[in-house]
Amino acid sequence: MEYSNEQMINKLKVAVLISGRGSNLKSLIENARDYEIIAVLSNNPEAPGLKIAAASQIPCFSFGKRAYGDSTGQKRAILEKLKALNPDLIALAGFMMILTPDFIERFPNRMINIHPALLPKYPGLDTHNRALQAQDTEHGCTVHIVDAGLDTGKIIAQATVPVMPGDTEETLAARVLAREHEIYPWVLASLASGGIGLNVTSVEYGVDTRSDAKLRRFLLPAQ
Ligand code: GRF
Repeated sequence: MEYSNEQMINKLKVAVLISGRGSNLKSLIENARDYEIIAVLSNNPEAPGLKIAAASQIPCFSFGKRAYGDSTGQKRAILEKLKALNPDLIALAGFMMILTPDFIERFPNRMINIHPALLPKYPGLDTHNRALQAQDTEHGCTVHIVDAGLDTGKIIAQATVPVMPGDTEETLAARVLAREHEIYPWVLASLASGGIGLNVTSVEYGVDTRSDAKLRRFLLPAQ
């Protein structure tokens, strides 16, 4: 039997967790070459992102709170589904649930998130407004490993944008979002190719990946 190149390469299997709009999910789908999105899970059955996944024939699973009684049951159901799917990587993309340590510890170095700020600045919500209030001249986004803290996991990559005079929360958010849509698929592709490695104590980068990041104006932590 002959295999096409695509069949011969073992793609990184990614499960994406969403709660809402799904614009990062859309960008991950559109750029999925070295990795494969095997499933999209949502804690919100109304998440518009689910329609984006369904339109690309990606299996979707939603876990409305009402069906599980409370958020403990809801989280347990999501965890069980993830265990069954056994993805190589879990990518949170606008997933608005606080995950418990036992959930996170089940997938060590296999869960990442995108956050709309230059961490460690502005963990949590309302990041664009906080950057404007602080009169920052630079803002951006961060892809990081998920740990038990609030946006405290190891930084994998960041992209900056300028804060322009007259910016509103909306104009600044849109500028950051455009960079989110570039950096998240790049990180996934780099994880798939081995250009980025997630370890217990460090994130490691290949030389080519570092040069490529520079060309794309992504910031990687120094070794
Ligand atoms: C993004 O800004 C992301 O950084 C944050 O939540 C937002 C999700 O947007 N974690 P979308 O659902 O991907 O459009």
